[in-house]
Amino acid sequence: MENLTNINNLIDPDLKLKENQHTEEGEKFLNNPIVTVGPVTKQYLRSVKSYVTDGNRFVFSDGVSKVQISVISDEIIRVRMAPQGTFLADFSYAINGYPHKITLVKFAEDENIYKISTPKVNCIITKADFLISFTDSNNHMMNADAKAMHFEENVQFGGYYVYCSKVCTNTEDFYALGDKPTEFNLRGKRLVLWNTDTYAFAKNQDPLYRSIPFYIGLNEGKSYGIFFDNTFKTHFDFAVELKDRSSFWSDGGELNYYYIHGPEMMDVVKRYSQLTGTHQMPPMWALGFHQCRWSYYPDSKVKEIAQTFRDKKIPCDAIYLDIDYMNGYRCFTWNQRYFPEPKKLLGDLKDIGFKTVVIIDPGIKVDDNYWVFKEGKSNNYFCRRSDDYFMEGNVWPGRCQFPDFTNPKVRDWWGWLFKELLETGVDGIWNDMNEPAVFGSGTFPDDVRHNFDHHRGSHRKAHNVYGMQMVRATYEGLKKLQKNKRPFTITRAGYSGVQRYSSVWTGDNVATWEHLKLANIMCQRLSISGISFCGTDIGGFTGEPDGELFTRWIQLGVFTPLMRAHSAGDTREREPWSFGEPFEGICRKFIELRYKLMPYLYSAFWQHYKYQLPVVRPIVMLESHEHINHYREDEFSFGDNILVCPVLQPSIHNRKVYLPQGAWYDYWTNQKYSGGKEFVISTPLDSMPIFVKAGAVIPEMEVMQYTDEFELEELFLKTWFSVHPVKSVLYEDHGDTFAYQQDIFLEKTFNVFGSNGSLIIEQVMDGLYTPRYEKYRHIIYGLPFKVSKVLIDGKEQKKYSLDTRNVLEFSSSKKFKKIEILA
Ligand code: GLC
Repeated sequence: MENLTNINNLIDPDLKLKENQHTEEGEKFLNNPIVTVGPVTKQYLRSVKSYVTDGNRFVFSDGVSKVQISVISDEIIRVRMAPQGTFLADFSYAINGYPHKITLVKFAEDENIYKISTPKVNCIITKADFLISFTDSNNHMMNADAKAMHFEENVQFGGYYVYCSKVCTNTEDFYALGDKPTEFNLRGKRLVLWNTDTYAFAKNQDPLYRSIPFYIGLNEGKSYGIFFDNTFKTHFDFAVELKDRSSFWSDGGELNYYYIHGPEMMDVVKRYSQLTGTHQMPPMWALGFHQCRWSYYPDSKVKEIAQTFRDKKIPCDAIYLDIDYMNGYRCFTWNQRYFPEPKKLLGDLKDIGFKTVVIIDPGIKVDDNYWVFKEGKSNNYFCRRSDDYFMEGNVWPGRCQFPDFTNPKVRDWWGWLFKELLETGVDGIWNDMNEPAVFGSGTFPDDVRHNFDHHRGSHRKAHNVYGMQMVRATYEGLKKLQKNKRPFTITRAGYSGVQRYSSVWTGDNVATWEHLKLANIMCQRLSISGISFCGTDIGGFTGEPDGELFTRWIQLGVFTPLMRAHSAGDTREREPWSFGEPFEGICRKFIELRYKLMPYLYSAFWQHYKYQLPVVRPIVMLESHEHINHYREDEFSFGDNILVCPVLQPSIHNRKVYLPQGAWYDYWTNQKYSGGKEFVISTPLDSMPIFVKAGAVIPEMEVMQYTDEFELEELFLKTWFSVHPVKSVLYEDHGDTFAYQQDIFLEKTFNVFGSNGSLIIEQVMDGLYTPRYEKYRHIIYGLPFKVSKVLIDGKEQKKYSLDTRNVLEFSSSKKFKKIEILA
């Protein structure tokens, strides 16, 4: 037993709070002053007494607690702490696999420290006070414990609150962490991860729907990541409680984190994605425009909306059925009055090129005459409380029970439930309310039990993964049932790794300009948090946008990987034509732009799937060394070569745009800019500043009303002149099958380089897929010389045109190897 002097030493000095400073951790302390708690249970690791090594794993002990340090790859080191010396079973819903690239691991020891080194990172453990730090191969400090890891017994539930506190320098900034509706740079924020249904959420509201316990630290141009793989309620403090500390802690589970080395921010995100996985290639149609509403019914209304898209020639690929398509909100049923012939309806929609996505919530109505409830009940698939009562709560259908999606058997059962919906013609599934949301109480009580893939746990442990496991069950079910066809799913809740199973939207936002700004930030944040396939309710879910706000949101939406308009049932009609002209025409123009850019977006997705690159990339990721960029949050790179600067305020005629270093062209006017500074660009409502990197090849297709409306006859390749060599990627495959995982795809790399008198475009092809079209139509912008000759694989191409702006156009075979444009 500790004596009092020792106990005083154990008190966290962080908790000596300034007057009026109100923090959760502080509150705990203030409510439990030392005199009343008896032995204070918060304990710090003490000096290291011994260690054992086992391959790339090292276990250090202070006599009671143990810390395991594992080298996962040259750039990733994992740290785990066992307060009483016994590690919990090693199980993670987040981890998809380890990148097995370990070149060499060295272990060294001197009087004061132990040092574990890879060619890229050193992990240093001080002997006297058990502090862990990470340096790069030049011994530059990247991340260091401010205090030894610590823990506090949880008397009520068992286990420990676990804490890690890091040094934070004056110049350090923080990013990622999922979906927080706040400034992009998280320095000065204290945030919680606990999936929560937050209808009409406000700026700075915390927590929201998803838990992604991964953040990026950026200091002096060098980045690292911390992935705290813990499913309990987790907390992050970025220099709030103390200016020189960042810390993370959890209400239970293991202190288990991965240090992910950069030093480029892009490398950190890539490595986090190697650990937790990427989205599979989506079906091409899922990258088209989606129209949603709570709810379109009856069937005639759904048809009318779909037909209006076609009549008005506004491209659209998917229409959604929200909860009213069901019979009394019973999942997997149809409302006979509104949808008497669902198969016919879905067939009719298919005939005019529409895919149908339907909502499925986790709450299953308690009703002994309802087959899903009966099956779930008889198989014991529903969640139970600690004393074995069923977990019951009210959601849309009234009294419900909830499948335990953390049970593999339940996931399998759930997957098969989609059979009928698919046979009826449904193309995609929307999982909602899966935080899980319960009316009144918010969510399940803590004592609800979960299987947790045979690692048992209360809701405290399973809450943050419940939604992810639901959409996983959905995705895996669809995959089994559809065989070789790619599933499309969309989910509201999620945990790290959810990207392997689903796209995500940011939940119930509001039709305000502030929310448009947040939409932009949240998609960038989700993207660098491993969730590339994300979008927002275009137009705002609740409230009424005017035509201008809706139009600006559509413009931003073109460049969010998921492009879905959605609105609550108590709002006015909200289709792209609802606001009349000029808004309708401008929305059409921008939705058409989305379709033109489809080959480019599809290629960006391939780069995400295959190379772990996020589709949306914030400015700070492109140029981390400039401190001012640490705060730039209103523009981003869309894939490799397009810079997007959305208009986020009403009635403005221009906006300031920052162009990163290098040459850029205005996408609309082809005016050339020399980057590394800010410009004022005019922003009439029918335009939005978009720039293309010099040297880029942007593949574009003819506008279609839906992604597979017709076979392409040619693909446009738009190339912008550059004197610096630039690579661009074009990826092609079947668009809706898994054949790409058997190498049936085509990845093309274009290398572009120019000089005073020439522009060379080389094409390198890799893969087995053959697209149907035969020709490229080349359009070349920004040529600084008068063209006298065009050579395609050495042969002169006599047929070309030049317009008054010196824009060059000609055709080539899709198989060309080298094009030379000469002065
Ligand atoms: C939730 C969803 C919203 C949906 C509604 C009805 O509020 O976030 O998108 O329309 O439920 O299902």
